[in-house]
Amino acid sequence: MNSYKEKFEKMRLAGNLAARTLDMLTENIKPGISTEEIDKLGYEFIRDNGGFSAPLFYRGYKKSLCTSLNHVVCHGIPSDRILVEGDIVNIDVTAIVEDHHGDTSRMFCIGKTPIKANNLINVTYDSMMKAIKILKPNIKLGDIGYEIQTHAEKNGFSVVRDFCGHGVSTKFHEYPNVLHYGKKDTGTELSPGMTFTIEPMINSGKYEVKVLPDGWTAVTKDKSLSAQFEHTLGITENGYEIFTESVKGYHKPPYL
Ligand code: MF3
Ligand code: CO
Ligand code: CO
Repeated sequence: MNSYKEKFEKMRLAGNLAARTLDMLTENIKPGISTEEIDKLGYEFIRDNGGFSAPLFYRGYKKSLCTSLNHVVCHGIPSDRILVEGDIVNIDVTAIVEDHHGDTSRMFCIGKTPIKANNLINVTYDSMMKAIKILKPNIKLGDIGYEIQTHAEKNGFSVVRDFCGHGVSTKFHEYPNVLHYGKKDTGTELSPGMTFTIEPMINSGKYEVKVLPDGWTAVTKDKSLSAQFEHTLGITENGYEIFTESVKGYHKPPYL
């Protein structure tokens, strides 16, 4: 059998750097900082720790990470926008180390945020973790989508259809597509050595999204809030490994 041990070692390095970047940013994300300053901090930290930011120059993208605020679903572009009390923001970091990619994102709350936003963030995090906990060889991709969709909809939220998780290793985005909705026992079977992301985008309103004229920023059509978390994972002989686990125990807000 073709061993995936070396691949996993490199995924661990890349995943760990991406996670440590979010850990570092956690202490800096507060009212008054602009998303461009967050981008710069992320770029420098990854560079200074032996990696490269995968988004930079990816398909014409000009920043090092994504900052998706409030009704932005994903791929928000860092700008001079300053974070203010009440904002919720997703920071999505992808680091390349030894040609391998670690892709992870977390939500951040700026000061005191509305209860509805906090609830959305909790449900989004829990939907990702419920899907991760079932991972092992021989389950199917549809089982992942089922876990996420069931939990999100049970709480009155909706699952974004237009973006999905993805295979990830030496390429940023590769086979398979990992849908965040679906039916049990459908789709591709998981096997040891597979590496991919789970990154549900959950909306407080309807699931429809549109991409702004900048070609990147995806927003909810109904302007409702959206939340997302992302981990890069590997399938092992009898379960899974999370490559992008926080070193500081920062899982979801509040990060105390
Ligand atoms: N990190 C995103 C993902 O989870 C992709 C961002 S592509 C970029 O797949 F170019 F916008 F950075
Ligand atoms: Co991803
Ligand atoms: Co990502």
